[in-house]
Amino acid sequence: MNPFVLVAGTLLAITAAPYVAFLGLYAWMRPSGSPATKRPAEPTVSLVLPTYNESRIVEAKLDDLLALDYPMEKVELVVVDSSSDDTREIIRNYFTKLEAPDLTLIEEDERRGLAPALNEAYEAAEREMVVKTDCDSKLPPDVLLEAAANLADPEVDAVTGRNVEVLGGSEVESGYRGVQSHIQQLESHLDSTLIFHGPFSAFENDALLPIDPKSLADDTELALKIRRQGGRVVFDPSVTYKEASHSEFVKRRTQKDRRAMGLIRLLVQHRDALGKYRKYGKVVLPFNWWFMIASPWLLTVTLVIGTVGAIIQFGGFGLALPVGVGLFTYLGQRDLLGPVQALYSLFDTQVSLLRASVELLRGKGDGTWDVDSELREAFE
Ligand code: GDD
Ligand code: MN
Repeated sequence: MNPFVLVAGTLLAITAAPYVAFLGLYAWMRPSGSPATKRPAEPTVSLVLPTYNESRIVEAKLDDLLALDYPMEKVELVVVDSSSDDTREIIRNYFTKLEAPDLTLIEEDERRGLAPALNEAYEAAEREMVVKTDCDSKLPPDVLLEAAANLADPEVDAVTGRNVEVLGGSEVESGYRGVQSHIQQLESHLDSTLIFHGPFSAFENDALLPIDPKSLADDTELALKIRRQGGRVVFDPSVTYKEASHSEFVKRRTQKDRRAMGLIRLLVQHRDALGKYRKYGKVVLPFNWWFMIASPWLLTVTLVIGTVGAIIQFGGFGLALPVGVGLFTYLGQRDLLGPVQALYSLFDTQVSLLRASVELLRGKGDGTWDVDSELREAFE
């Protein structure tokens, strides 16, 4: 065997080793559901809704929130609006006829980005449980009760949920979410999970902390900081939401790559947490470093070295490797890979993470972005 093939094979084995170990741990622990000791609870709730030019869908979002199965006298809605369209007028009109919930509308004169806006909203939120939700997401009626049941466990300070239906039907996204849900359950049972999801995350009010105004991963940052101050932060698959996504390779890049940038930057900022905070710093964070930071580079190097090796070994036929990856991408983004579609989803995620690392190294990644209007069609 030529040395290139040998090196590529070894690198691939090294890259895969932590995943095999994680899979073994999963099989051994068989985590299922939330690790919290859930019990029925009905705390007062601050629903935090950030909006930027959401006039097309904000009314549908308010309908959705009012349909939640929860005593609305216990709820306040805190909207922080940075729009230049008439989002805030729509919200104000909507509330003129309503007795409950209470409305706090924070009106920003200019858009500074999501993180500063959220800091203001969290500051204004006065109720016991603070729920952050994106305008472009749908919530089922039981979601507040499910979240509150988790927070009723005195150890648990924050809970996030599962994307049960990818609106728009992207199989690339739903494949990834399926895998991610298992990983997040295992992390939660070990200690705490890393990633918190913008469409629905709930926090104990007295555990809240300010987030970095430049953050591109506000929810995960909040959860990580809460874990660092001693609270447990968990994923519960019974807490659900719906969000829209694309499958096409190019369309996915904008949103996915930005989210990936946010997560990588956050891990690096909090590198001193590695090895601390019990299994969170000893297992959960290292696993995420491997998945988000090490693997994308290792896989790229493996592919390059493997291709060189294959060309040396088989001449022109060695190009089958990169051509195969191209074909895999072509079919994957069209949701045509059937049983291996989930594998493509992971590959797609690694592409995002690689691009995100490169962009961060180039100094990119400020805190504002174009809201994806095509994704909002699913909510009109
Ligand atoms: N007030 C305010 N100011 N709200 C904003 C701003 C802003 O500058 N930018 C976006 N929003 C609002 C949107 O109106 C929406 O309700 C929510 O924040 C999420 O914005 P999206 O544009 O839909 O973000 P996304 O789905 O691509 O991004 C996801 O990742 C972010 C981190 O990168 C979401 O899960 C976000 O919650 C998460 O913060
Ligand atoms: Mn969104």
